[in-house]
Amino acid sequence: MFILGLQGSPRAEGNTSILLTTFLTEADRLGANIYNLDVPTKNISPCQECGTCKREGFCPIDDDMQQVYPLLRQADIIVMATPIFFYGPTAQMKALIDRSQALWSRKYVHNLIDPGQKWRLGFLLSLGATKGKNLFEGTNLTAKYFFDAVGASFTGSLTYRQIEEAGAIIKHPTALADAKEKAKSLVLPFLNRKKILFTCTGNTCRSQMASAFAQYHAGDKIEAESAGSAPAQEVNPIMEKVMREKGIDMAFRKPKSIDEAARLGNPDLIISMGCEEACTLFPGVPNKEWDIPDPFGKSIAFMRNIRDDIEEMVGSLIKNSKNIRSCP
Ligand SMILES: Cc1cc2nc3c(=O)[nH]c(=O)nc-3n(C[C@H](O)[C@H](O)[C@H](O)COP(=O)(O)O)c2cc1C
Repeated sequence: MFILGLQGSPRAEGNTSILLTTFLTEADRLGANIYNLDVPTKNISPCQECGTCKREGFCPIDDDMQQVYPLLRQADIIVMATPIFFYGPTAQMKALIDRSQALWSRKYVHNLIDPGQKWRLGFLLSLGATKGKNLFEGTNLTAKYFFDAVGASFTGSLTYRQIEEAGAIIKHPTALADAKEKAKSLVLPFLNRKKILFTCTGNTCRSQMASAFAQYHAGDKIEAESAGSAPAQEVNPIMEKVMREKGIDMAFRKPKSIDEAARLGNPDLIISMGCEEACTLFPGVPNKEWDIPDPFGKSIAFMRNIRDDIEEMVGSLIKNSKNIRSCP
């Protein structure tokens, strides 16, 4: 599983950073893959309201946000962490949030479904200096609509008042323990899923579609990964098109090598579509071969048939997923 932490404070080693790091370190200890994105060190410009995302479904601003979109899509849990600046999140965090309008447009204007959106969770960590009764109201609302835009269910927050000097959060009687406890309760259900690695040659069509269908139909029970023995540069645009016909959004996906997939941990099962290399890299992991021909260079009608065959096979796999033994 993958957790994306968004650290919104510009103060190096400030309170927000300490709180988020505590959360992520505990998640890492439990076995999650984590990424702590220090938002203020990134070059993310504010939204220019040019309308491209509404028309075309993507943001044309060529800055670090282009690396954030795929991370938002890969995450099982997104943790937004920000100090309160004038009753809201920091400007750096707000720029990232506003740029997620591109994902909002894909979802609500282009009516596309991100296969991970049913299961992804969003959580807020926040703190401020004063006692203000309404201190977190603005940020809570912003978090709620940000998480909805990026396809995550807002599952709650930990917020702390009267935290001012750098490091003050360490002296709080419960904050760090709360963060660890929350990490545990959010992470464990995800770690109990069966992990399936779908492989093919280029990781551009078959294994991408199979992992997306598994995630879409059963992301609560199955952690789906995909990779290829000879990964291409980009996913196949015809594959994207035929998935779009079913309303499924394959944007922001990149082909991966088997080695890259191996770095994410051992799967419980490998489904190979013409890729034996995966099995040699994971000795002892059960594997199945699906007889699905390579649609590369074939017609769109051929791609549609492959898509439908794969969806059916993934359906049967899900029905029998209880029988997959967890790898030690
Ligand atoms: C520009 C700015 C605006 C702030 N606005 C508020 C505010 O509206 N309410 C509040 O309680 N604290 C406010 N604070 C205080 C910070 O939220 C507080 O010092 C917090 O601990 C900083 O967290 P950090 O160490 O993670 O940056 C503000 C601080 C700055 C620098």
